[in-house]
Amino acid sequence: MTAEETLSRLADEISVCTKCALHESRKKSVPGDGPADAEIMFIGEGPGFHENEQGHPFVGASGKFLDQLLAQAEVTRADVFIANVVKCRPPGNRDPQPDELEACDQYLEAQIEAINPSIIVTLGRISMGKFFSGVKISAVHGQMQKVGERFVIPMFHPAAALHQSALKPTILADFAKLPELLQAARTALGRPAVVKERKKVVEAPVNKPKQLSLF
Ligand code: URA
Ligand code: SF4
Repeated sequence: MTAEETLSRLADEISVCTKCALHESRKKSVPGDGPADAEIMFIGEGPGFHENEQGHPFVGASGKFLDQLLAQAEVTRADVFIANVVKCRPPGNRDPQPDELEACDQYLEAQIEAINPSIIVTLGRISMGKFFSGVKISAVHGQMQKVGERFVIPMFHPAAALHQSALKPTILADFAKLPELLQAARTALGRPAVVKERKKVVEAPVNKPKQLSLF
């Protein structure tokens, strides 16, 4: 099975999953979006109101800010895979509970295995907790660490920076370091860059100014 097929099969399973109580109130599950060969995978917390309506990650206010942050990192959504630690919305956007995180982790693990990203960026303390325990996000944000076969960078959640404006310059600076960290991760892992075929920009025809006649 190709990575694309694995991801779409997982999305099908997630859409009918009843492994935890979050399925009871979900409208749409949010498996995650992005290419199967993404070099960077972002892991957020869980769907909010708009994500539950639309079935896609980070489509609300945090998503708008995430787009700005991705621009800082010189990537677009088409380059990266964006997922969450739980695929169904916790009621009232409460924190996902330990049993819900545990039940949903098999999907996230299977996604990570299929995508095999060089870098995982965790957004917020809950997804940081999947990889690091006993650390404070304020102490370790932006610092890349090797975890198994890849690198993990904990970052603040975009929503946290929207609510606490003092965090905004920090999260912007952390995202701005991503291109350099990605290069370092590729080198350390001995992996080449994933080169996407870019559509050629067709230049608009330039209207040549008419030769001025001298007389
Ligand atoms: N916040 C998250 O953590 N994930 C989303 O998908 C949207 C908002
Ligand atoms: Fe299943 Fe995850 Fe949704 Fe719980 S949150 S019902 S484990 S897909």
